[in-house]
Amino acid sequence: MIEKFEGVHMTKMERRIKIRSTGIYLPDKILTNADLEKLVETSDEWITTRTGIKERRIASKEQVTSDLAEKAARMALERGGIKAEDIDLILVATNTPDTIFPATACWVQKKLGIKETPAFDLQAGCTGLLYGLIVAESLILSGTARRILLIGVDILTKVTNWQDRGTCVLFGDGAGAFILEESDDDSGLISHFWGADGSLAELLILPGGGTLYPADEKTVEKKLHCITMKGNEVFKHAVKRMGEAAVEALKLAGLDKNQVDYLIPHQANLRIIDATGERLNLPKDKVVVNIHKYGNMSVATIPVALHELIEEGKLQKGQVIVMVAFGAGFTWASAVYRW
Ligand code: UT7
Repeated sequence: MIEKFEGVHMTKMERRIKIRSTGIYLPDKILTNADLEKLVETSDEWITTRTGIKERRIASKEQVTSDLAEKAARMALERGGIKAEDIDLILVATNTPDTIFPATACWVQKKLGIKETPAFDLQAGCTGLLYGLIVAESLILSGTARRILLIGVDILTKVTNWQDRGTCVLFGDGAGAFILEESDDDSGLISHFWGADGSLAELLILPGGGTLYPADEKTVEKKLHCITMKGNEVFKHAVKRMGEAAVEALKLAGLDKNQVDYLIPHQANLRIIDATGERLNLPKDKVVVNIHKYGNMSVATIPVALHELIEEGKLQKGQVIVMVAFGAGFTWASAVYRW
């Protein structure tokens, strides 16, 4: 199907969005496995062999989600060579908003000093960044927005039960930002695949503080304001869904597994990352891993990993990357992107 777009004839399939620039922010404070050994009955050996995590970053008491988001956004703006006012939509993917309302995107807007741009949050568990990418694609290609600031950010350590060894060793804090706009060549987002299964919502949940369990003394006493997870159940679903989603997005892109240059999987557990890499028959050097440094930063894992891959000078123009994530909901999504 041929259509006219800004004076250039392109097939509809050729229109893509691209990541103009990226930015990240990681809090300074480091919490090591040795530190956790002092808090709960655990060991560096258990955490390393079961998860791959060695240390993680922790936001300070004063820092809120929009602070991390703002810093990542400012870096992305600077690297993209654009000003905050050149953004026409702010989309924040997070599970740990500053406030239930207004949206963290509005707090970010205030901090960036951008006036009257639409701003909203998207919540899709650890899959939020890829859901956001898919939503942004529609908004840009439909002409609703020209340049979107998409931020993946979480401070899970503020909603962690520090007495629960099954979860408190897993999480870290961070933010990653993308500036998204329409691509003018064949680089950009080629395909995506997404899904959700709300029937399994209770396996990974922060139950308190919403309308289901409005906050009161009892919800706090029962720690309903903290993450609870049936880890081994989540693990099985994550392996299955991430593998399937990566394969499906590649099919939709018309590409073969051996055309993948880098897999950027959500960093929840090294064993899930390895299983997803094996599903695509990829050698280890094509699978991006940073979980040992940062733990599970939820929505921030993929943008931080991509940013670091760029910084390390590894990503070359034309290379194909597959991003894939899984999280609370359950939700899952994947995206194939030509750099
Ligand atoms: O990002 C969103 C998606 N999230 C995920 O994908 C997380 C998926 N799940 C996981 O990564 C893993 O299930 C965990 C790392 C959370 C747990 O690993 P596991 O191999 O599934 O362990 P498990 O929950 O089956 O527990 C095995 C044992 C239990 O002891 P018993 O009952 O066998 O005596 C746990 O109590 O390990 C024990 N355990 C620990 N031991 C030392 C659980 N946490 C710890 C700990 N240190 N931190």
